[in-house]
Amino acid sequence: MAPSRVFVVGFVLVFLSVTASAGIVETSFHVKNLTANRLCEDHVITAVNGSIPGPTLRVKEGDTVIVHVFNKSPYNLTIHWHGVFQRQSQWADGPEFITQCPIRPGGNYTYRFHMIEQVGTLWWHAHSKWLRATVYGALVIRPRDGQKYPFVKPYREDTIMLGEWWNANPIDVEDAALAVGAAPANADAYTINGWPGDLFNSCRPSKIYKLDVVPGKTYLLRIINAALNNQFFFKIANHNLTVVGEDAAYTNPFPTDVIVIGPGQTTDVLLTANQSPGLYYMAAHPYASAAGVPFNANITTAILAYPNATQTTPILPVLPAFNDTPTAFAFSSNITALVTSPFWSPVPQKVDENMFVTIGLGLSVCGTNLTCQGIFGQRMSASMNNHSFAPPTSMSLLEALFRNVSGVYTTDFPDQPPFVFDYVNVNNSFNQTLLMTPKLTSVKKLKFNATVQLVFQNTALVGIENHPMHLHGFNFYVLAQGFGNYNPVNDSKKFNLVNPQERNTLGVPVGGWAVIRFRANNPGVWFIHCHLDVHLPWGLATAFVVENGGTPESTLPPPPADFPMC
Ligand code: C2O
Repeated sequence: MAPSRVFVVGFVLVFLSVTASAGIVETSFHVKNLTANRLCEDHVITAVNGSIPGPTLRVKEGDTVIVHVFNKSPYNLTIHWHGVFQRQSQWADGPEFITQCPIRPGGNYTYRFHMIEQVGTLWWHAHSKWLRATVYGALVIRPRDGQKYPFVKPYREDTIMLGEWWNANPIDVEDAALAVGAAPANADAYTINGWPGDLFNSCRPSKIYKLDVVPGKTYLLRIINAALNNQFFFKIANHNLTVVGEDAAYTNPFPTDVIVIGPGQTTDVLLTANQSPGLYYMAAHPYASAAGVPFNANITTAILAYPNATQTTPILPVLPAFNDTPTAFAFSSNITALVTSPFWSPVPQKVDENMFVTIGLGLSVCGTNLTCQGIFGQRMSASMNNHSFAPPTSMSLLEALFRNVSGVYTTDFPDQPPFVFDYVNVNNSFNQTLLMTPKLTSVKKLKFNATVQLVFQNTALVGIENHPMHLHGFNFYVLAQGFGNYNPVNDSKKFNLVNPQERNTLGVPVGGWAVIRFRANNPGVWFIHCHLDVHLPWGLATAFVVENGGTPESTLPPPPADFPMC
């Protein structure tokens, strides 16, 4: 470790945050090139207001959020408010070509939405190509005045954002892989609040995130996985944690010494500074569920510092093995919802739409006169029910819905996979009759207020892997999860219909399945996709098109005047 370490002061994000008054939080995002130094190298990347992570938005439940985004970068840009319901603000959701066309270089767009019935931690990120590698930040939602947390009032709060760093411009990394249909390069480092930490070589006095704690006090840590392609195990040496919320929904207190967090997910934990004065690393490394797929096995660190510590080297926690699926599964499947939360609503008992959806990898045709570096000389691909999603280019799905334009998408996304096979059997991994996936812009139409039950079934095509599946616009209930092929008779007996966790992103067990349920109570177009950014451009996505409900509150409003055109 470098002796003359320069600490990045804890709570630095406070100074970047915006001020709230009268229930309106208004700020501007200036998105432009930034030369940043990590791992001894300067790289030009894209950042918001000159920092990585970008500004933390601090709001209270009930507030209106207004963010003026100025795209001074050389890339097309959109911003997504990950996990926000966007009731009556569908045009502000942000996924490129799903709800909007991108903000062109030099352009601007104002996102306006209300933060209602969600308290805890969400985040925002670019939703255009791989820009989110460096364009992301936290969205902290506190209870409205007069309401409290359903747990001991923390002395202080802090935000811990996990990320990835390439010794390159991430857009170039993505483009290079897509050009030849190959898998993209792995990240060169993982980061905590933008810094790789002491276990990576930084050449200069290393910068590392540091949280100073007062002995005996309890802190609320809002942990966010903003990485593109890695799930993480996260620990703090010698300290236990209590999970109290996930994806801005309260949970029953869940004591643990390790958390598992997939890209897109947030986990709120209480931490009590009850250890002897000293320096303790917070540390994260991948939970790598795909066997035989190379990954960067380094550890990113930050420091939990008590006053008057005499040691100079912090204690490093022992993280689970990279492939410790039992630990990941135990964590992800044992958390339950806090049903006394003011925002809890009971699980719908009646299901209107039953879907069984395979998720996994595959191949798509290379194209004539091209050379591809995917398996069998084809392009790497991914799909849901063997439909590999291709976004439109002429207008967004939401605009096509609103203006009734045909030919932009089809509504034939199937409720069942086209072939029934032993989905998780790795003997099928390279079965060429199952691997090819057509590129389609197909969506699933839903009536307003329909209740949907969706079984995600991982396939072994190319390889089994835990996929963090994210639904825009809604939280879903996680009824059950398991390994192998889903069995409707036996596995439906395991459903938790009483207090299942509510999430917007769920890691579907590697070589397994998960059952979710949600109510489609917001008209519009809602993307559902794998939150690994290696798989999203490969097509592991589709969308729900929810019809109007017949009242003013259940009708899609017109787009705002400054809505970006294609
Ligand atoms: Cu956090 Cu569609 O994304």
